[in-house]
This record gives sequence, structure tokens and C-alpha cells, in this order.
Amino acid sequence: MTTKRSLAALAACCLLLPTGCSEERPQPVAEPGIHWNPEQYICYRAARGPTIDGKLDDDAWAAAEWTRDFGDIQGDPAEAPRFRTRAKMLWDDDYFYVAAEMEEPHVWGKLTERDSVIYHDNDFEVFIDPDGDTHDYYELEINALGTEWDLLLTRPYRDDGEARNEWDIAGLETAIFVDGTLNRADDTDLGWSVEIAIPWEALRERANRPVPPTGGDKWRVNFSRVEWRTDFVDGEYVKRHDAETDQPLPEDNWTWSPQGLIRMHYPEMWGFVQFSDKRAGAGADPFFFDGHEQFQWRLRRIYYRQSAFYAAHGRYAEDLAQLDTDGRLGLILGGPAIRLAGDGYDVTLVLPGGGKLHLTEDGRVWKTDE
Ligand SMILES: *[C@@H]1O[C@H](CO)[C@@H](O)[C@H](O)[C@H]1NC(C)=O
Ligand SMILES: *[C@@H]1O[C@H](CO)[C@@H](O)[C@H](O)[C@H]1NC(C)=O
Repeated sequence: MTTKRSLAALAACCLLLPTGCSEERPQPVAEPGIHWNPEQYICYRAARGPTIDGKLDDDAWAAAEWTRDFGDIQGDPAEAPRFRTRAKMLWDDDYFYVAAEMEEPHVWGKLTERDSVIYHDNDFEVFIDPDGDTHDYYELEINALGTEWDLLLTRPYRDDGEARNEWDIAGLETAIFVDGTLNRADDTDLGWSVEIAIPWEALRERANRPVPPTGGDKWRVNFSRVEWRTDFVDGEYVKRHDAETDQPLPEDNWTWSPQGLIRMHYPEMWGFVQFSDKRAGAGADPFFFDGHEQFQWRLRRIYYRQSAFYAAHGRYAEDLAQLDTDGRLGLILGGPAIRLAGDGYDVTLVLPGGGKLHLTEDGRVWKTDE
């Protein structure tokens, strides 16, 4: 699910511009095609950490709720996944635990080297942005052989982010359980499950907030499952090819919280995981917003519009009226204010409950108390 900014688009743009590549303009950042309504999950404490063996039979998991079944990444109900996927989360002082169960008639995996491009196999993926500013987030992909690809992203690719593959989740524990046979095409399997323990300590580096979390803290988290269509050739699984192009058919992307477009690297669309100090099974906490999340989304919509404006005009808009051409930005009295700064811009919004929100042209969004 790694989507790089389209170099082909940049090159095409260069050809069209008489002045050459010094004038090149990036493609605008696509706007999600769905209403902003990320999934929510209350993550309770594990009375005792689960045994990481891939089997979700621990008492701790029995007391944790499933997420909703994963759906099509664009949020299109007509594109319902062919197989069920759902997940659970727990935590304790040392670890953030994730479990996923995947229905799968044909469990296979080929990649065995750590930090391979794991989504070239069927996989399960975890994304974590602790402070929700959309920068500095973590990604983990794992296939049915248990091969891991863990990386740190300084920013989304759309904001010229860098993927640091050499970064590892120190102390990461994962295990797979296959309910059936691995890499045997002549029988039918039931599925596979993944059990993951991520040490909080490994997430501290770029969390930009207290780690481990305290009750009520919300982190942005997302899960995705990549599923290729396969055929059986000489007893082996091979990706199904398009008869005309002879390329593999595109992989399906099934996610917990729909993105509204076929991109995973939109942290603003990820689910909200709210940590609770209660033990799983010992009562339910309500999910609550802290009050700035909706406003954060308003700034994000200004960011999308600025990106489109830049692609069209080669500069950023200096006031909101230039961006709100259709009157659909849903602006509010008294804010937000755009300020051009250097080659970029920043937007500031005074929050009704006190404090301010800020967003810069690199997509980062954050809150200050003053
Ligand atoms: C799934 O995501 C990948 C990476 O973004 C994309 O190339 C592929 O076309 C997507 N699959 C479908 C069926 O849209
Ligand atoms: C993951 O992100 C994608 C894109 O924002 C979204 O469609 C999906 O629902 C998210 N899943 C979770 C678990 O948040």
C-alpha cells in the first residue's frame, strides 16, 4: 500500500511547461470521497498479557471486543471483501497488543526476508500515528509466514515523506497461526490469525506525547489487509494475471476504517483508538472526542484545497474566499486565518474551548494551548 507521488505525472508536467522542470508542480493531494467519520475503538487493559503464539485463545482476548469487519478501502459497500477480517486491541504497561483474524481458503506466503515489500504477498498491516499530527508514524506489515516489514515514516508520501526501512520496532513480538495448511493449494483452509505485541518503549522515539498512554488518550491507528487473487499452477499459488496486459490483477485492499480513496497513507482517515484504564471485561467506557478533532478536519480540508489551488496556479491562496469557491468548506465565523510564509503557508484556528490549531503546507496539524 505504499503509494509514491507520481513521478510520471511530474515528468508529463515538465514536458508541457516551456520553462522546464524548475516550474514543475506536484499533483494535487486527492480528497477522500467519503464523509469524515473514522472508526472508534476503546482499547482496554489486559489483566495478563496474551501469549504471543498466533492463537487468539487467551482469556485477555476473550474479553476484548472485535472491530467491525473490515471493508473496502474506499468505503464502497458494493465492493464488500470476499473474506472476513476483524481485529482486537489490548494494552498493558509494556505493550500495545493487536490481534487479527482472517478468513482465507488458501493461506500462502513466499517472502521470508525481513523488510521485504510484504504487500507483494497477502498481508496484514498496522499503522500507528500516536499524536495524530499525520507526521512521524509507524507501519508494520506481516505475511502468513510471519515475515515482518516494520518502518517509520517521517510524513505521508504525498508530503514528500521518507520511509525509513532500517528502523525496527525494538522488542517486537509477532506470531501467526494457520488454521489449515500453509502453501498447499490442493486443499481448503479456514484462515490465519496474527498476534502482535509492540513494546511502548519502541514507539516513544516519535510519539511526541507520553508513552505509554494514559486513560482517555487517543491514538490514530489503522489496519489494512492486502489480498491477491491467485490460481493454482503445478500445486503452487500464483497471482492471477490479466489476460490482456499479462500483469497481475491489482490486489484488494480491505481496511478497518475506510479511507475514501485507494491510499493508506492518509492518517487523518485512520481510526481513533482510545485507551482505557479499565480491564477488558470490567465495564465499558464511552468514546469521547477531545473537542478539536472536527476542527482539525476543517483545517485538513483547507490543506486539500490549497494543494489543488497550487496545482492550478503555481502558488498558494492567500485567503479562504479563493479556496471556498463552492461554499462547501463549512467555514465558521472568526477563523481560520491563512498566512503565506516563505514557499508555504500556515493556517491558524482559534478553538472555541481555548487553544489554537495549526496546519502547515507539509500537512502537519497540531494544537497549542496559547
Ligand atoms: C490496492 O492498493 C494498491 C496500492 O495503493 C493499488 O495499486 C491497487 O490498485 C489497489 N487495489 C484495488 C483493487 O483498487
Ligand atoms: C485505515 O485507513 C483507511 C484509509 O484511511 C481507512 O479506509 C480504513 O478504514 C482505516 N482503517 C482503520 C482500521 O482505521
